[in-house]
Amino acid sequence: MMMDIELIVNQETYQLQIQPGERLYRVLRRLGYKSVKFGDEQGETGADTVLMDGKPVNSYLLLAAQAEGHQLETLEELGENPHQGWKETRGLHILQQEFVKNGAIQCGYCTPAQLLAAKELLDREPDPTEEQVRDVFSGILCRCTGYLKPVEAVLRAAARMRGETVPPIEDPIKVPPEWMGTDLGDSIPPTKTVQVDGTTLTAQRVITDLKVSNSPETWRQVGKPKEKVDAVKLVQGKPAFTADFERRDMLYAKVLHSPYAHARIKSIKTDRALEIPGVHSVLTYRDIPRVAYSTAGQSDPIPGPLDSYSLDEKVRFVGDRVAFVAAESEDIAEKALEAIEVDYEILEPILDSREAMQQGAPIIHDQDDYVNFADSNPAKNLAAEIRIDIGDVEKGFQEADRIFEAEYEVPKVQQAHIEPHAVITYWDENDRLVIRTSTQVPFHIRRMIAPVLGLPVKRIRVIKPRIGGGFGGKQEMLIEDVAAHLTIATGKPVQFVYTREEEFTASRSRHPMRIRLKTGVKNDGTMTANEMYSLSDTGANGAHALTVTGNTTKAMSLYVGDGPYRESPNIRYYADIVYTNTPPSGAFRGYGVPQGYWPVERHMEFIAHQLGLDPLEFRLKNALRAGEIHPFSVAWSEGREPVPEMIQSNGLAECVQRGKAAIGWDEKHLDKDWAAVPGKPYLRKGLGAALMMQGTAIPYLDMGGASIKLNDDGSFNLLIGATDLGTGSDTVLAQMAAEILGVPLEDIIVYSSDTDFTPFDKGAYASSTTYISGAAVVDAANKVANRIRERAASILESKLDKATIIPAEIELADRCAIAPDGHAVSLEDIALDSLHHTNQEQIMAVGSYMSPVSPPPFAAQFAEVTVDIETGSVVVDKLVMAVDSGVIVNPVTASGQIEGGMTQALGYAVSEEMVYDDQGRAREKDFRDYHIFRAQEMPDLETIFVETYEPSHPFGVKAVAEIPMNGVAPAVGNAVYNACGADLRDNPVTPEKVWKALKDG
Ligand code: FES
Repeated sequence: MMMDIELIVNQETYQLQIQPGERLYRVLRRLGYKSVKFGDEQGETGADTVLMDGKPVNSYLLLAAQAEGHQLETLEELGENPHQGWKETRGLHILQQEFVKNGAIQCGYCTPAQLLAAKELLDREPDPTEEQVRDVFSGILCRCTGYLKPVEAVLRAAARMRGETVPPIEDPIKVPPEWMGTDLGDSIPPTKTVQVDGTTLTAQRVITDLKVSNSPETWRQVGKPKEKVDAVKLVQGKPAFTADFERRDMLYAKVLHSPYAHARIKSIKTDRALEIPGVHSVLTYRDIPRVAYSTAGQSDPIPGPLDSYSLDEKVRFVGDRVAFVAAESEDIAEKALEAIEVDYEILEPILDSREAMQQGAPIIHDQDDYVNFADSNPAKNLAAEIRIDIGDVEKGFQEADRIFEAEYEVPKVQQAHIEPHAVITYWDENDRLVIRTSTQVPFHIRRMIAPVLGLPVKRIRVIKPRIGGGFGGKQEMLIEDVAAHLTIATGKPVQFVYTREEEFTASRSRHPMRIRLKTGVKNDGTMTANEMYSLSDTGANGAHALTVTGNTTKAMSLYVGDGPYRESPNIRYYADIVYTNTPPSGAFRGYGVPQGYWPVERHMEFIAHQLGLDPLEFRLKNALRAGEIHPFSVAWSEGREPVPEMIQSNGLAECVQRGKAAIGWDEKHLDKDWAAVPGKPYLRKGLGAALMMQGTAIPYLDMGGASIKLNDDGSFNLLIGATDLGTGSDTVLAQMAAEILGVPLEDIIVYSSDTDFTPFDKGAYASSTTYISGAAVVDAANKVANRIRERAASILESKLDKATIIPAEIELADRCAIAPDGHAVSLEDIALDSLHHTNQEQIMAVGSYMSPVSPPPFAAQFAEVTVDIETGSVVVDKLVMAVDSGVIVNPVTASGQIEGGMTQALGYAVSEEMVYDDQGRAREKDFRDYHIFRAQEMPDLETIFVETYEPSHPFGVKAVAEIPMNGVAPAVGNAVYNACGADLRDNPVTPEKVWKALKDG
């Protein structure tokens, strides 16, 4: 029974027939207002915000009928692109303009809600305080930005709307001139030759003196705070995301999830579900082929066991798949789920990683078609094991004056991207399956899903639209197969979007680990040996099990020892990665490294304290330096043959120096007066630090491709397989192309990514896009530039009647090819000549790049906290991160990465944790229980770039995206230790743990 209502949206009146219980959110989306997003069912994300009579409301929580008679506003009303051909538009609203200019947008999924909330504020308060802006943002979760830039954008917009002028957005972070040529003392060693296994590695490319870059003053695009190439569409709320796309006769998918942690399906009946009108398909394990695969979105061959199935007769965690349904609406699909009858044989689960390998433990993967990788052993619930010995660890311990041993634990945490996993599948007119999906790895998805569906790769096309955040959670073939099986079964388009509860119970998360550290140290602080054992919990499947836990070595790589130990470090890393009946772990920004840095940096602090050493000097004394071999590069490479790799750029010592100055370390760290809070004897302030490194791509494996094509008007299409999940990589790659081709950024039209049209790229992970895909773009751009120079030379020769112009001497700048004598021809003329006039050709090139090295970025993280010693509560007051990520291509997007990364890491430090009861049921199923930071809760954030020039990249870049995840938790832990002596071994640093540590002394 339908009901009639009248809705007024953006001053337009609609007469509608709706279902009585239909949500306002759904009706608005149906009317085409796609700026209204789904984030969760509880209104915690605020992504569904619209204005009703000028006030923000959650459209998912309101019934459409409740909005009748009210004025509704969505982002579509705010402003629009000022340039629409012959049509004059009112242009973008000042708020939208400032969001674009200020770098306030990363993935852009929360942006419509933030803009509407800001509009409401400025309508009632033209001169708001920062606190007021943060307050209106408090109902809107952003997982990408750290809120700093959106808040700044609103304050700037408010000033402009009051008629004030605001300063232009300059490069906000400059390396001060006094840093150039600073005497860095012993912190940077002289150039030297390094011997590994008798092989002498050349030292000629070693950079021992820091420099910002080779010629930054001549660069017009690289190194500049350019606006993001996708920002204008995102501030308008354009239908850019996966779920914004619709097809006629589209069905909606739902999945029946297991209520048991470990069970076998004895029987499953679907008749009642299939009888429900509007249900088109119900699939169980009996209806589809059984194909063992890995869900990990990685290059071929996937370095992990094949232990997953689209559907199986056994379920291995609460939330595992039991059946798929496709129906004409989500409500009908949900009814169908309730009508499926399942009889389970309940099996004993393993919920604690320590029990997984015990004698007599239940076997989680007892199926015959399990496919091993390396040392995986399902009979022992072992997904992978790692045994790495470098040097002679036992001898190193014998030579130590003191041995320090301790155990640490890090929790399971969620990526919590605000856009849930979303996919739409359909057959095209050529009977090829199109998969439109919010993925970080479109090319891996195409390759991996083909055998699962029984289709050849060539009959699959994967399109990656705008992604609303991923953080590793979308480096997985998680839901694409569900929609695809249902499209095959029904012949119809199928959309599948995860609920927020599914994100928490049936998605991926960071591997929790129990880590034991043993470190040998001489009394002068020289480390002689370091040993780590990690018991890593991969959950019910082994996707990323080996590689994530192997990557934890990056935390150990930072400290090699000093003196002779620096020449020949003694390091041991052993790990067992075990199955449990909990939701599978997977990739999460940092990819195993944050798990390592909590124990390593807490341990280093503890040792320094015990030995009475300055904690930062102790660290730097033992830290890896430029000119040295990355210790693990000689021993391990994700299951492939390792190749020794030299560190060519390292700004760690300068990061420490700059970070210390920014946080006031020397004045505060051991100052008891500063630590006391006047009038509040129960409060103690403290400072903590952590040093860290990461990697940049996976050497000899990760490959990125790009193609560039010249158009009639001298603009270029840049086609890339790389996936921008909000990081700004589309922009950064376009900046590199624009720099080489001598055009402004607006002349580079970026498209990413579509497996039919864009070159292969392994996807967005391992902090590789700027470095790997960037080098591919440079390769393609250089080829195109060279061809343009050749044509320009011949055009100028005939035009000027000159004998020879050497193409290599022609400069590309200001949309022209300019000969040394100043004569120039425009790129538009070259394009018209090449496409229409003379010896016609399409000027176009493809570039690709694979790196033999993975140059680490380095960083120093500082935290300032206030601890209540009566309650154990910890407030993080300030975070400062000084980072060497090589040359910074775009300071605005890069600092956004650091701010957003520190904010995610702050949750890892103090609040985020996924816990299961004794039946394996999740405690955290939504954002009411799982706390990620909101705008009004944020500490001060400060980012400092210490630029080095990484010689292995044409623009000297290194990674920036993952390293901010590593240091905040241990820096906060160390700050708490500094403040009150609570020496915590487990994160997050909760009030209970601090209070207990203080009580236990
Ligand atoms: S930009 Fe806010 S959620 Fe991505």
